[in-house]
Amino acid sequence: MKIIRSPQTISAISKKLKLKKKTIGLVPTMGALHKGHLSLISEAVRENDFVVVSIFVNPAQFGPREDFKRYPRMVNKDIMLCRSRGVDFIFMPKPDHMYPKMFTTYVTVEGLSNVLCAKSRPGHFRGVTTVVTKLFNCIPADIAYFGQKDIQQAIIIKRMAKDLNMPVAIKIMPTIRESDGLALSSRNIYLNVKERKDALVLFKSLKLAKGLIKSGVSETGKIIHAMRRIIRGKNVRIDYVAIVDSDNLIPIQKITKGCIIALAVWIGKTRLIDNVIVR
Ligand code: PAF
Repeated sequence: MKIIRSPQTISAISKKLKLKKKTIGLVPTMGALHKGHLSLISEAVRENDFVVVSIFVNPAQFGPREDFKRYPRMVNKDIMLCRSRGVDFIFMPKPDHMYPKMFTTYVTVEGLSNVLCAKSRPGHFRGVTTVVTKLFNCIPADIAYFGQKDIQQAIIIKRMAKDLNMPVAIKIMPTIRESDGLALSSRNIYLNVKERKDALVLFKSLKLAKGLIKSGVSETGKIIHAMRRIIRGKNVRIDYVAIVDSDNLIPIQKITKGCIIALAVWIGKTRLIDNVIVR
């Protein structure tokens, strides 16, 4: 496994692989790898001749009051995990490599980037789509892998790739959960024991929603109301609970096949998200 720092080098290596007709799987990450990332990596290793994992804590997707500085960085552990999973290249650029002085070009997916998480994280998705575009331009991957946990991000990237004719398939992999249901996230590390317990309300409320749907409830208003009622706790604050169409992320009145139930909740100072797709 090789660790590459410069965009030019990873570009040159990827081009050579493509000339040899090798397939490339790309797993974009911000590091602090957990079992969720590892499931993406395993799928990429299974499906491609070569796998690149990018590790870059992207400053452009953090707001001024967000956790860019304290975002967990565990490079040595990440390298070890990638090596043990059969990754071929880690692309680990420095901020200056990705955003040199005079950088002024950003990619925005209109509409989808203004709803749900974007309301409390303005500019976040512009940062994500910009860095992912840069990664796609450096690494001509056949398939790029993203987790369902960040469903809005995955849908936006899928739309971007389609709208801009990017020759890459976007694969969305299921959310990986702890045994008690908490969705894995690099930010779970911020939670203390009490907050970790409180954080279970996300999964519990989604489970309740699924139960209601199974029992025949189809009015989304009723389901959202029931979910909000069980999200309680001294240190728990709802950002949003929403049921939306999976194409345009617009709220819907009645449950449809494939719609998304999503929520974001503050547990103390940590903002957690989760979702389910109604099958
Ligand atoms: O999901 C993430 O870790 C990031 O948003 C991504 C896709 C790597 C872009 O920085």
